[in-house]
Amino acid sequence: MPGNYRKKILADQGWMHAFDDVLIKPGFTSFDPNEVDISTSLGPYNFSIPIMSAAMDTVTEERMAIQMALLGGLGVIHRNCSFEKRLEMVKKVKRARGYMVENVATVPPDCSILEAKSRMEQFEISGLVVADDQQKVIGVVTSRDLPFDKKMMNHGLVKDIMTKDVITGKEGITREAAAELLYKHRIEKLPIVDDECKLVGLITTKDLKPDFPKASLDKRGRLLCALAISPVMPEKKEEIKIFKEIAQYVDIFFVDVADFYKKKDIEGVKEIMDNLNASFVLGNIGTFEAAEFLLTKVDYDRDKFIALKVGMGSGSICSTSIQTGVGAPTLFATAQIADAIEKYDPKMGLIADGGFKNLGDLPKAFTVGADMIMTGHFFAGCSESPGLVDTIQGRKVKVYRGMGSKEARFVEGDYIFDRYSKDMKTLPEGVSDYVPFVGPVEGVIDQLTTGIKNGMIYAGAQKIKDMKDVEIGIVTVSGKVESEPHDLVGKW
Ligand code: XMP
Repeated sequence: MPGNYRKKILADQGWMHAFDDVLIKPGFTSFDPNEVDISTSLGPYNFSIPIMSAAMDTVTEERMAIQMALLGGLGVIHRNCSFEKRLEMVKKVKRARGYMVENVATVPPDCSILEAKSRMEQFEISGLVVADDQQKVIGVVTSRDLPFDKKMMNHGLVKDIMTKDVITGKEGITREAAAELLYKHRIEKLPIVDDECKLVGLITTKDLKPDFPKASLDKRGRLLCALAISPVMPEKKEEIKIFKEIAQYVDIFFVDVADFYKKKDIEGVKEIMDNLNASFVLGNIGTFEAAEFLLTKVDYDRDKFIALKVGMGSGSICSTSIQTGVGAPTLFATAQIADAIEKYDPKMGLIADGGFKNLGDLPKAFTVGADMIMTGHFFAGCSESPGLVDTIQGRKVKVYRGMGSKEARFVEGDYIFDRYSKDMKTLPEGVSDYVPFVGPVEGVIDQLTTGIKNGMIYAGAQKIKDMKDVEIGIVTVSGKVESEPHDLVGKW
């Protein structure tokens, strides 16, 4: 019995419709436009915006990943580089922003006031934690405690001027609880201690300031970090070691293959999942049957397996479908997998990946069950994507290439070959080209989110999950012509 999503786009009758083939049916809007809520979630992670940047080497490295997380989405770092480089990138994301300083500058109680003053100046900080030789917190000294008296300043010790009744927070304290303590006691620094009162970090009012109130954060207030991985465990000992270190900085691993409905890959991922403590998104797949298999026939740890990513051959730089004749347009794939999720595991997340050409394509993905969308096309031309800005006929452009393109294979190390079927070495499944340079990703996110919100207002859906109940219809060729600007003198 076909489920609702496939029925909506006639996939139950064998049609493989794409975004251009459908339009969302307008609906009754009972809420104010500024009440539209585009926040979403995947497993335990919450996102202010339902958008991800693709795991491609011309789209997401640490700069893009940091900016995407700050803006409330997620950037998935690509895997077409050495394990050392991947480690470097995920470390940068995790260290980009946190509400707790981990390597806290301390002084012993017998330190001279002059020395404490010079350390504050050297580290450009306004205070130091005073700790004994076991790292137990026994005081705090700030620039406000420094004496005016010259003799005291030149000869006094920190223990004579420090605050002794130190308010501390317990390891694992939430951002909100820390803010409450700082405010309640009107203090600016909160040392964080473990069960033995040993110093493990410091939270300051300055670090809690919400410069990016929508940021995607982990439990410790650091940016969420996602990395693409191969479906098989690395073979070299050295790489396995770095891979395990990488896992300390990554919240979500994205298994990154063109077709994840393969026995060998499915078994490989089981081994990786059993060995690493992180969440996993699996993909890409394109059919109800593939999702049904992964949700019912494979013994994955369901606390770790949080979402499926779907769409095959639909990316703007993909040539899989023309090279092999096989594909699953993203709209079709999303509906297929959404039905399987509804039937077997309604909590499983769903990411519609690739094929978005116009802003209006994004809301369409949510009507067939997506929780988030992923795009490379919209982000490859941003300032934060890797690569330099070129000029072609006076227009600024950046390179955008498929991970299965000839050009992506030039990277030393064969890291990307297992993304495709065996003969990617001789038969590329992607192309390399240019996209217009569009400046900072913030502007692009602003456009994409406005498009989604406006679509939701017309559709009458206040939340992303309400979009799942919205109807869509297939348009005819003349319907499509009519729904774009037409019959004008110039080229619009
Ligand atoms: P867009 O439409 O945003 O699609 O350009 C990005 C998605 O396309 C996938 N991808 C590829 N698929 N050959 C393919 O068949 C490739 O070379 C290739 N490179 C990327 C990927 O899922 C990405 O998120």
